Amino acid sequence: MTPRLCGWCLLLVWTTACEASSVTREPEAVSVYTLKNARGMEVRVIDYGGIILSLKVPDRSGHFADVVLGYEALADYERSSPYFGAIIGRYGNRIARGRFTLDGQTYTLATNNGPNHLHGGVKGFDKVVWDVAPFERGDSVGLVFRYTSPDGEEGYPGTLQATVTYTLTDRNELVFDYHATTDRATPVNLTQHSYFNLAGDGTNDILGHVVTLNADRFTPVDSTLIPTGEMKSVSGTPFDFRTPTAVGARIEQVDQQLRYGRGYDHNLVLNKGSDTLAAQVYEPTSGRVMEIATTEPGLQFYSGNFLDGTLRGKHGAVYRHRFGFAMETQHYPDSPNKPAFPSTILRPGEQYRSRTIYKFTVQP
Ligand code: BGC
Repeated sequence: MTPRLCGWCLLLVWTTACEASSVTREPEAVSVYTLKNARGMEVRVIDYGGIILSLKVPDRSGHFADVVLGYEALADYERSSPYFGAIIGRYGNRIARGRFTLDGQTYTLATNNGPNHLHGGVKGFDKVVWDVAPFERGDSVGLVFRYTSPDGEEGYPGTLQATVTYTLTDRNELVFDYHATTDRATPVNLTQHSYFNLAGDGTNDILGHVVTLNADRFTPVDSTLIPTGEMKSVSGTPFDFRTPTAVGARIEQVDQQLRYGRGYDHNLVLNKGSDTLAAQVYEPTSGRVMEIATTEPGLQFYSGNFLDGTLRGKHGAVYRHRFGFAMETQHYPDSPNKPAFPSTILRPGEQYRSRTIYKFTVQP
């Protein structure tokens, strides 16, 4: 049996009121796409932000549950989402003070996270409506998202043609392929910002999830979460996940980096070579396992520290402190200001390409 694309529908009821001016916005059609594979795994996605609304995967006894956090209404995504499920661009994570200099010219971006620029700015790729083309192949089904980011959008130079492809395979893999071209040099660092809770339905914290990270080093940050530029060994630190360790095992240790991040909110420098996994997360009560492979040099491990119980998500779930985690494959934060980090600059004539695979399995 091959995976099926279950079609799409228009959610015309997803409208929102503009609070600032009390003018009601026109209803905007948002398309919802459902991907299903031969083993029953199901992903629901919208064209607004490429947001993954739900992701149903089996536990060790074959019971399916939704393992991502999110909302029921589009208005909530528009109003107050901490990037639940969305494509992030042009630049995933932070750029210090919203400034960088490229080819002798200084560019100013929005400072939407304290003194810094975060996740592409005020209206990043998580808040635009993408063109979507569904496809079906022998053993997979998917969606191609396209968006043209105009020259100057959010302060970034050049017109960027971005394509992100989500593919669901019969091997229970969710594959993200990123591609971009530009007509002027610009930073690009695309990622996906789903929050996971592998126990299902986001009704408990993720501290019991057991994480393995294939990283000998990480990039320590200052108090505003900008890397200092150092690539520090994880040895002897709470950031050493080279052997499987529960998220909660060391998260409350007295450690300046944990204090700055309010927990884990750090970029790991992934070990490269062979076809090793970047990361693995195991949830003991359900047996669910998420394996992450990527072409990217880094991974932001975020333990949901800013969730504080004020957001009410799907099925009335209240997302409390650390009820979800994100594993954002990426280049390192603030690379445009860190010449020693791998470059994130895309130039005319070059192709930006990046691939990340989340694979779902179970342990007995
Ligand atoms: C950042 C966090 C931030 C979260 C949601 C992560 O990528 O590192 O600091 O709170 O995204 O915006």
